Amino acid sequence: MNIKPITDPSRPKVYIETYGCQMNMNDSEVILSILQDAGYALTEDIGQADVILANTCSIRDNAEQRIWGRIDQFRLQKRRRDGVIIGIVGCMAERLKEKLLDGHTVDLVAGPDAYRSLPDLIREISPDKPQINVLLSHEETYADISPVRMDRNGVSAYISIMRGCNNVCSYCVVPYTRGAERSRAPKSIVREAVELFENGYKEVCLLGQNVDSYLWKHPDSADKNVNFAQLLEMVAKVSPDLRVRFSTSYPKDISDEVIYTMAMYENICRHIHLPVQSGSNTMLEKMRRKYNREWYLEKVGKIRSVMPDCGISTDVIAGFCGETEQDHKDTVSLMEAVGFDSAFMFQYSERPGTLAARKYPDDVPPEVKTARLNEIIALQNRLSLESNTKEVGKRHKVLIEGTSKRNEEEFTGRTSNNKVCVFAAPGHKPGDYVEVEVLSCTSATLIAKLI
Ligand code: 5AD
Ligand code: SF4
Repeated sequence: MNIKPITDPSRPKVYIETYGCQMNMNDSEVILSILQDAGYALTEDIGQADVILANTCSIRDNAEQRIWGRIDQFRLQKRRRDGVIIGIVGCMAERLKEKLLDGHTVDLVAGPDAYRSLPDLIREISPDKPQINVLLSHEETYADISPVRMDRNGVSAYISIMRGCNNVCSYCVVPYTRGAERSRAPKSIVREAVELFENGYKEVCLLGQNVDSYLWKHPDSADKNVNFAQLLEMVAKVSPDLRVRFSTSYPKDISDEVIYTMAMYENICRHIHLPVQSGSNTMLEKMRRKYNREWYLEKVGKIRSVMPDCGISTDVIAGFCGETEQDHKDTVSLMEAVGFDSAFMFQYSERPGTLAARKYPDDVPPEVKTARLNEIIALQNRLSLESNTKEVGKRHKVLIEGTSKRNEEEFTGRTSNNKVCVFAAPGHKPGDYVEVEVLSCTSATLIAKLI
């Protein structure tokens, strides 16, 4: 199976720009696979492209604004060269639908479940006939498609294990852009992991909006259903030399079975991304998160009681509707109480059509949102530094992922608990596992030496 981009100069060229989450990165690889089968080849030079695709994100307004800016630049290519096709695919395509075709802005609009139809859509395009497919599906998982890998290192790859989301958090656009949740057949997931390992990959990251609700229903018998813990074990068994990561976990749904399965396999990495969003119970309820602060802290306690060395990262939203100073303080105190190893932090951005947009005014003034976000970021920098400082003097097994951006003589890789390490390792190469000792750190990186 060919999982590398084809570089045949005689083929028509597609250029793909990806925005948003890891899921989208993997979707771009699915899109490339479909287009390669239809005779296209990837180009990294937009000036050579016959088809320009932006795989887009709608999660916050600023994500969409950036993409609008890029669309203007894509249109310059069209002015320079006749016949260039501009396509918007992914979440923004699904959210805005025909609106993207107004004023002939683009030629092609395809939602996240419409990628199989891309070759047909492209074929049908003419200057006055743009094409659109934004149908969402209850079944599509692209299970049979081997994504063409666009990562640079050939060491770690994403595998989507499910699509869509049924959680309906009140602030979130994803259920509308990616549709209902569906789980991919475990056999096809394991096949993909084996294929990657046979091609030299050493790490897979299993992706889903809420991996803990993964459930593949066996057509014959419920006894043979596969849940996420079981899937994790199946992938871990592909090889002890294949590391397994996963994202994203949902605090309400992560089960003890998942935690114990992680603990049982050395090659399942000791890291859980567990978005908390807020430390205030009033906010959590308005966000429809289905857990409260106490439940979250208990989960963290459970994880650490089973795996004391497990890295825990999170997502936090500052300035959600009606957030008071006390609500904000509750977030700060929760972050302190957990001592997160790292976090992604955002200002609340109202998304049209979501429950929050319909029910609650976006009433925290922008300057207050910014101030709270800055406070949270400063706090997390300190927590990350504290967490990294605890690693100094410890030894870790690191998978080399590539050369350091700052110094070509050094490698970067991650520890099992997801900390980025920089070290010299003469004679080694990306894909090797090495033992290192941590010498010092910053809030973002461990500086280590080979042992
Ligand atoms: N505004 C700000 N942040 C958001 N997220 C999701 N929706 C919004 C929104 N409307 C954040 C959440 C989620 C992460 C992927 O993006 O923290 O976990
Ligand atoms: Fe990913 Fe959500 Fe952005 Fe879609 S809207 S690309 S699912 S982060």
